[in-house]
This record gives sequence, C-alpha cells and structure tokens, in this order.
Amino acid sequence: MNWLAFVTAILLFLPACVADDKLIPRKPLSIGSTVVSNAGAFALGFFSPANSTPPNLYLGIWYNDVSPLTVVWVANRAAPAQGAGASSAPSLTLANTSALVLSDGDGRVLWSTTTNDVVATTAGAPVAVLANTGNLVVQSPNGTALWQSFDHPTDTYLPGMKLGMSYRTRAGERLVSWSSPGDPSPGSFSYGGDPDTSLQIFIWNQSRPYCRSAVWNGNPISSQLMVNGSSLMYLSVVDDDDEIYLSFVDSDDRQARTRVRYVLSSSGKLQLLAWDGGGASEWKKLGEMPSHECERYGYCGPYGQCYYSDSASAAAPTCRCIDGFEPRSKEEWSSGRFSQGCRRTEELPGCAAGEFLALQGMQLPDKFLRVGNKTFHECAAECAGNCSCTAYAYANLSSSSSKRDATRCLVWTGELIDAQRVGTAGGERLYLRATTGKRKQRNAVKIAVPVLLGSMLIVTCVTLLWFCVFRGKKRSVKKHKKTQVQGVLTATALELKEANTTHDHELPFVKFDDIVTATNNFSKSLMIGQGGFGKVYKGMLQGGQEVAVKRLSRDSDQGIVEFRNEVILIAKLQHRNLVQLLSCCVEGQEKLLIYEYLPNKSLDAAIFKSERDLALDWPTRFRIIKGVARGLVYLHHDSRLTIIHRDLKASNVLLDSEMRPKIADFGMARIFGDNQQNANTRRVVGTYGYMAPEYAMEGIFSVKTDVYSFGVLLLEVVSGVKISTIDRIMDFPNLIVYAWSLWMGGKAKDLTDLNITESCIMDEALLCIHVGLLCVQENPDDRPLMSSVVSILENGCTTLPTPNHPAYFAPRNNGADQRRDNVFNSGNEMTITVMEGR
Ligand SMILES: *[C@@H]1O[C@H](CO)[C@@H](O)[C@H](O)[C@H]1NC(C)=O
Ligand SMILES: *[C@@H]1O[C@H](CO)[C@@H](O)[C@H](O)[C@H]1NC(C)=O
Ligand SMILES: *[C@@H]1O[C@H](CO)[C@@H](O)[C@H](O)[C@H]1NC(C)=O
Ligand SMILES: *[C@@H]1O[C@H](CO)[C@@H](O)[C@H](O)[C@H]1NC(C)=O
Ligand SMILES: *[C@@H]1O[C@H](CO)[C@@H](O)[C@H](O)[C@H]1NC(C)=O
Ligand SMILES: *[C@@H]1O[C@H](CO)[C@@H](O)[C@H](O)[C@H]1NC(C)=O
Ligand SMILES: *[C@@H]1O[C@H](CO)[C@@H](O)[C@H](O)[C@H]1NC(C)=O
Repeated sequence: MNWLAFVTAILLFLPACVADDKLIPRKPLSIGSTVVSNAGAFALGFFSPANSTPPNLYLGIWYNDVSPLTVVWVANRAAPAQGAGASSAPSLTLANTSALVLSDGDGRVLWSTTTNDVVATTAGAPVAVLANTGNLVVQSPNGTALWQSFDHPTDTYLPGMKLGMSYRTRAGERLVSWSSPGDPSPGSFSYGGDPDTSLQIFIWNQSRPYCRSAVWNGNPISSQLMVNGSSLMYLSVVDDDDEIYLSFVDSDDRQARTRVRYVLSSSGKLQLLAWDGGGASEWKKLGEMPSHECERYGYCGPYGQCYYSDSASAAAPTCRCIDGFEPRSKEEWSSGRFSQGCRRTEELPGCAAGEFLALQGMQLPDKFLRVGNKTFHECAAECAGNCSCTAYAYANLSSSSSKRDATRCLVWTGELIDAQRVGTAGGERLYLRATTGKRKQRNAVKIAVPVLLGSMLIVTCVTLLWFCVFRGKKRSVKKHKKTQVQGVLTATALELKEANTTHDHELPFVKFDDIVTATNNFSKSLMIGQGGFGKVYKGMLQGGQEVAVKRLSRDSDQGIVEFRNEVILIAKLQHRNLVQLLSCCVEGQEKLLIYEYLPNKSLDAAIFKSERDLALDWPTRFRIIKGVARGLVYLHHDSRLTIIHRDLKASNVLLDSEMRPKIADFGMARIFGDNQQNANTRRVVGTYGYMAPEYAMEGIFSVKTDVYSFGVLLLEVVSGVKISTIDRIMDFPNLIVYAWSLWMGGKAKDLTDLNITESCIMDEALLCIHVGLLCVQENPDDRPLMSSVVSILENGCTTLPTPNHPAYFAPRNNGADQRRDNVFNSGNEMTITVMEGR
C-alpha cells in the first residue's frame, strides 16, 4: 500500500490567506496559512498525519501541487504540537535575530534554528524565503544565507542538495526515517557516510549497519538517469581541491517539471521516486536499496558471499563461501541460516610467505583500515609483512587533482564481513591471504608481480566497463534499478570538506590605494586586456602576489551591497577549471575585481596558430576540452548557485603553467545585476559565433546557451579554425556548417587540425566532433547537458544520438555586424562584446 495514503492534510488552505514565498519578522505563520515558493512547486505550513488522535501538528514542507500530500521536510518531528484549538495553536516566527522559532500557543518553544547571527535592525530585517527547490532559506538583510533547510534534511533528499560528508570532522548530515508511514518522529533507520572511513555509505538500523554501499574507488560518476527515454536527473561528482560531493540535480532548469526524490522509508529502504503526473498521478519507484536479502549487511556471515538471481524460478538468495573456505556449520548452512559464515578449509601454515589470492569482481568487505600514502607495491608489502593482515585492496583515487592523498590502500585484519561478488563490472580486486601448497606458493609469488603491475590498468578498465554497463542499460530502469541506486550510494561515499569552512570563507576587500600601487596607477604598460566590462591590468600586491585586476567601467545596475554580495558568491565558486576570484574593491565610483594571475596565454592564442611546432598536441587539447567541460558542469550544477556564463569562448579560457584550462569571466552577468534565470533579458552579452541562436536573437538564455558555446569551442579546438574567421572555409560560410557537412559526408576526420595529425587519437577527435555537433543543435532541448558531455568525454564508449542540423547565428546585416565582430575578436584576450538587444 502506498504509505502516502496515511498522510493527509488538514487545516491547510483557508481561502482568505494570500500565499507568499516569504516569512518576515512580526508576521508569524500560523495554522491555515502557507508559504508557497515563487513558482509554486513547494509549500511550507502545518500538517497533521491523519491517524493521530488528538491530531499532532507538524511544520513541514511539501509538494504544493502533488496529491496525496507528500512531505519532504519536517521541522518539529520530535516535538509535535498538540491540538488545533485557537488558544494552543502553534506558529512559526522569524525573530529579529534571524532564528526561526516554532512555538505553541503557550509560548513553549517546540523547535528553532540555531542561527545566532544578530542582524542589525538598521540594515533591515531578516527574511525566510521558500525557494522553488523546496529549500527554506533564512537570509540576512544583505542577502547572505544564514540557515537553510537543505543543510538539515529529514528523510528526503531533493535535487539541489549536496550529498556527502565532512572528511575532516567525519561528520555529515544523515537522513533519518520516519518511525512509521504516518509518524514523522525519528525512526530507527538512518542513512549517511561512514564516519570511520569516509569511503562508504551505510543505512543503519539504530546503530547496526543494515545495508552498505560499495567502497569509493575514485570512479568519477557523472551520469544521467533516463526513464522512458526522457531524462530525469543528473548525478555528478563535483570535485575540486577542497571539496568533493555528489550533486543530484534535476535534468531541467525549470525545477518544477520533473519531481524526483530519494527517501529513506520507515522500513529502512532508500528509495528513488519520481512523480508520474500523467494518468496515474502517483509516485513511481525507480529503485531501492536494499532490494533483496543479498543487499543486507553481512547476510552470509564472515567469508560468505551472496548470490541472487533475478529470474523468478530462483529468486531466493543463497550463500556460498569464498574459495578456500567452508561453512562453519554445515547444518545451519543447509537449512538456510547463514549468519555464522565460513572458515578456512585449511589453516594457514604461517604467514611469512605472504601469498595472496586475487579475487576479482568483488565489492570489498567492511571493517578495513586505510593506510595512507602507499603505492600498490607498498600496500601489498604492508599486508604481506603483517601476519594479522588477512587481505588488502588497492585503488587510485586521483581521477581529480585533489591535493589529498590519492592512494587508497585498504587492509583487513579480522574476518571479512559483507564481501560481495558483483562481477567484473563495478567490482574490484581483493587480495586474500591464501593457503595453497609450498610449491604453488613460489609460483604464485612469481606470477604475482606482473599481475600486480598490470592491475592499475585493469582497475581503469573495470571502471570504464562498469560505467558503460551502467550507462548503456540506463534506459530500462526497472531491470537495472539496483545499479542506479547503488551508483548513488557509491558516489556519495566521498570525502567532504566541512561545509562550515566554505561558509566562513571571508573575501578580503582590498583598499583602492593598494590597487593603485599594485598596478602602478593603472599603468598602460601593465594592461593585459580590455573588454566590455572594463580593462584588465596585471598587478603585484604587497606580499608579492601577482594578480589580474579588472577595473569595471560600465555602470552596474547593482547597489554596492548587492554588488558585494554577488562578488562574495562568485568568489565562493572554487574549481580547478575556473579562474579564481580573489577579492574585490569598492570605493566611490570604482569597482574592481581581483583575480588570480595566469602567466600563460588564453586558449585562442594557443590553438589558432599556423606554426606547426607551436601547435598544441592532441592529448593536451583533449585534456583542455575535458577541463573546460568540468568547469562548466561546476558552474551549471553546483547546487547552490546556477551560473550561466553567457560568453564562453576560446579567449575566455586561460591556461595555467601546465596548460590546464581555467574559465574566466564567469558570473559577470550576476555581478552586473542581470537575472540569472532562463529568461528573456534585454541585455545580450556574448560574442557572435559563439552565441546560441535563441540567445542572440531573442535574448533567451539557459545552461543550454553555454552548451552551444562549448560546442563551438570544441569544434574550434579540434579543427584549429576560429569560428569568427573572416575567410570562408572551403566555400562554407562558417566552421559549424563546414563540420556538419563533413560529418554528413562521413568525412569528419578531415576536420581535425593538420598540425596535430601525428599526436591525434582519431577516435577521441571523432568523439569530440560528434559531441560538438550535438551541442550546437538548433533546439536547446536536443543539446546535452554539460554533465552528460563530461561523462561522454571521460568514458567515450556510449552510443550517442545522431546530431540534428546545427544552428548558427549569422548576422543579417553582414557589413556592420561583421565588422563589429572582428573588432571585438581581434586577438584581445579579455574581449567581451556587449550589446543592447532589441
Ligand atoms: C525587533 O525589531 C523591532 C524593530 O525593528 C523592535 O521594535 C522589536 O522590539 C525587536 N524585537 C526583539 C525581540 O528584539
Ligand atoms: C551580511 O550579513 C551577515 C550577517 O547578517 C554578515 O555576517 C555578513 O558579513 C554581511 N555581508 C556583507 C557583505 O555585508
Ligand atoms: C531493526 O532492528 C530491530 C532491533 O533493534 C529489529 O527488531 C528489526 O527487525 C530490525 N529491522 C530490520 C528491517 O532488520
Ligand atoms: C514508463 O513507461 C511505461 C509504459 O509506458 C509505464 O508503465 C511506466 O509507468 C513509465 N515509467 C515512468 C516512471 O513514468
Ligand atoms: C608519500 O610518501 C612519499 C614517499 O614514499 C613521500 O615522498 C611523499 O611526500 C608522501 N606524501 C605525503 C602526502 O605524505
Ligand atoms: C594514480 O594515477 C595517477 C594518474 O592516473 C598517476 O599519476 C599516479 O602515479 C597513480 N598513483 C599510484 C600510486 O599508482
Ligand atoms: C599489524 O597490523 C596490526 C593491525 O593493523 C597492527 O596493530 C600491528 O601493529 C601490525 N604489526 C606490525 C608488525 O606491523
């Protein structure tokens, strides 16, 4: 039975109430009124589960337009308000101090947030806004978020939340189930990262593990969940030097369109649910963990492995012992009680030999110890040299440029519990101390070395294979739901920086005088760029740090407070593929942005070169493409802030000393006070050639306009031809048309830059061209999201759709506009074209 049927709303909508998306001090929210998010997706108010007598009242957030009532967040789950009588009716108040306080009619506090920021009353009052994502945010008068419900989940994860846990404090938010379908009070199940290792995720039944994810192996999951051919959501790992977490985002910018959520049910299952708004009007279950006995923690006992067949005839799970082990009790085992597990058939003769059996395709057992900073061989030696070590496993987590220890050497000392055979797809190698005879032993040592040497390669292949299987089968959700949910579980087992650290990130405000000194009074000789937003200078701060200073020339629409707030937000975006905004300076009419300084040139200077020996080779180009794509994923899908670049182009991609790309000039539209939503906007910021048609002509922008620009950039990097080149290319009006016609003619190979033929891996180049053409399709809905682009480029081996006819925007009045185009694109690194549209 659908548990939602147990929950009904009472006292919710009195017609007299005008719904607002805000709560302000001295206007409490009481029974009968709701706060509704601006686009109507979510509501905040009081509800009462139907079967409680006398009715218990809870403050919660639910889907505003979904019936039956589906609650996603509850404030006072442990302290319900009783009775709806006028005298004892509860209300929610936003205090001057910016704390949200829920109290009953007698003034008893039932629940409150713990924000203690004192908000100066002179600066205005705090406000609590229910965002259309379902996030209730308390904002200070200057717009800073002081508290948000997304940081305090109850039993539901919604798109836009970050999943993960703090690496340093080993603490993270956990989902806690309701105690029963009609009772929001905390139940016995919880879900979250493993505080001991940060490498895996558990569902606990009280304090006992109930279900466990695979151990994180560095596999960068970035994936799209498809149901019935339409995409529901994206999962991706956002990873920069400081932070790594899983972000779970709606497939569409318009948040209300698809409704997906993870919920930890009161029976301890993590379920992925999607709303089917069609005929059925119900929540469809796309997957759950655990879905059968084999997924329950330690079901087969020590050294046991569970086997489960999907076929109806053999639906019961069975346990088998790992090679070299036998059931501890044959009777128990044969009667289907497996909890005692297995023991060695032959005792170990002694451990000096250090002989190990490689078990492939394993989901690693629990209760491991991570030994830091070991190569594979050191890891093997660590275990071999210690008689109490029973097994080890190794992985390299350095798929990213994290500064942290990227080695993952795991050793086990006791019994192996909750190991699973999952097959080569997704499995890892577990090296188990073995007991073969003396003669064999020697051979094993000899063979071991080459096998081990090759293991890094194998791990990589397994990862790729796993990914392809995962992606390739995504269309038939029913059959593979387990994989998907497991994917999430796996990905969530991440090392996370404590959220507070980002929160406390203080942006230094620099004095104008110091900038004058740093830039030698904005000396012409230090000017390194000029664009629509202002001139850029190289400067040296007092400590000797080199910076790039952007002196904004245009009057911004923003007041100083808003400007500073936006700058703070932008500065919080930290990713290895973004140029870091370091600080800013506002004094009088002057507004300056201070960025990290990158000595190397921009991408356009590096690829549009005719000299053969100076051209970037293919591997570098491919790395650059992937880096730019990752930077864009971060901008688009970082859960707290969707940034649409709007002017991505080769000259806005800078290269660091190791030719790693960094995207520059993102967030400028925000800083200048433009609306960031997918919207009609009067100001078009961008550069001809890179602009998607819907943006160039109608001013409509979304993340898909950036995808278009990225597609253009991709084709440029592969071909070495500038989009805005004045010369016609082989009689084609521009690069996109040229690429399209080569593709249609089956000659896409010919598009690759002649300068890189030697270093070029044709499969990769063709993949890039294919992706590039998908990105420049006319219809924005046909273009992939950047998160899919990243996974396609990283994993290569998927079947991609055939691109439709591309769009390109050719200014009608060729003379004048073409000229402007050329002026603004003439070799200037920092060019931004600003036009007032229509
Ligand atoms: C909150 O601020 C208002 C003025 O803005 C003041 O009148 C009121 O006393 C304050 N309340 C508290 C509890 O500080
Ligand atoms: C915004 O207000 C919060 C507290 O209300 C304060 O901590 C923060 O420094 C303010 N930020 C700016 C840029 O004024
Ligand atoms: C959870 O643990 C309790 C005992 O603490 C037990 O009675 C119950 O069966 C467990 N639930 C599941 C689903 O295993
Ligand atoms: C997918 O399509 C099938 C058949 O049309 C339908 O039964 C199912 O409910 C759909 N799934 C979702 C999640 O909409
Ligand atoms: C890891 O060990 C190597 C030597 O084995 C050493 O050079 C390196 O500095 C160590 N790194 C860390 C982060 O401890
Ligand atoms: C991990 O992989 C990276 C690149 O894939 C490589 O540079 C590094 O040496 C590897 N580390 C170990 C310990 O194998
Ligand atoms: C062997 O491993 C155990 C558990 O990790 C550890 O306590 C012990 O010190 C190790 N012994 C040696 C000789 O390294």
